[in-house]
Amino acid sequence: MRTRAPWAVAPFALGACESPTSALEPAGPYATDLAELFYWLTAITGVPALIYIVVALALTLRARARHGPPRAGAPPPAPQGGGMRWIAIAGGLLPLVIVAAALGVTLQYGARASGAADPAVTVDVIGHQFWWEVVYPGAGVVTANEIHVPSGVPVRLRLTSADVIHSFWVPRLQGKRDMTPGHVTELHLVAERPGVYRGQCYELCGVQHALMGFELVALPPAEFEAWIERQRAASAEPPDPLAERGREVFDEAACGHCHVIRGVTPPGAMGSPGPDLTHLASRRTLGGALLPNTRGWLAGWILRPDDHKPGVRMPPTTLAPADLHALLHYLEGLE
Ligand code: CUA
Repeated sequence: MRTRAPWAVAPFALGACESPTSALEPAGPYATDLAELFYWLTAITGVPALIYIVVALALTLRARARHGPPRAGAPPPAPQGGGMRWIAIAGGLLPLVIVAAALGVTLQYGARASGAADPAVTVDVIGHQFWWEVVYPGAGVVTANEIHVPSGVPVRLRLTSADVIHSFWVPRLQGKRDMTPGHVTELHLVAERPGVYRGQCYELCGVQHALMGFELVALPPAEFEAWIERQRAASAEPPDPLAERGREVFDEAACGHCHVIRGVTPPGAMGSPGPDLTHLASRRTLGGALLPNTRGWLAGWILRPDDHKPGVRMPPTTLAPADLHALLHYLEGLE
């Protein structure tokens, strides 16, 4: 792993105000490179701009002191000559040096961003309007809106889209990357420490683009392996009659047309238009990192998803109270 410059994070460490989506609070080497690049470009362009402003102000004030304020109808001061040299230096040569320096550091950091180490894990992430399908190829694990990765090791993400162009962004871990239908792009990242890192779609993809969020959960490697093992399992049989009734309601309400529960509903020939629910109860959030995954929010989401996320593809559902109760009991058992 590359060494990091402590000054890159110092201004924000001092401030001690953590933001879950600040690219200037990097939590991995790629994001640290981007934060450093930000400070370099700010310095390379900002310091000369400041000098130019100070010099221009000083010259203006000096001219005023010499000639007094400009008066209407007064003839313009006679040219003093010798200006071309300054125009050539300050207007031509210096901007060239500034642009060359900015290009140089950008190319240097760009080369580091693409030179990824051997990834320990590969995760396929597929953008949908307006949620994220997450597949662990080879492990037989499919989930949604939460990307679990082992901490401290390189992870390869293969990104694509099922409908329109989305953009994958976890600000504290990596730069943005477009997700284009019919095209797979790779993005590597490392989460140095275990934690939950907020992600967001960054390409206008429709009415609920702003609420197309996700969480990247970095676990210690042993815990990640245990998580994969639990997710690999198909759904268990309903443990009691109420859960059994809940599974019937799931069928009767046609939830299986869009949602797969492995061991209950087979994956459709066209893939899954809605999130895989096999281990729904193990997730932290609902609706693309929009709502906490609790019984009350789950009930509201099932009955009126449009109230929480206008434009969502999931239609509202009408259920008798007893059926809703059974369905919630069943879904809460899908751990
Ligand atoms: Cu998906 Cu914006």
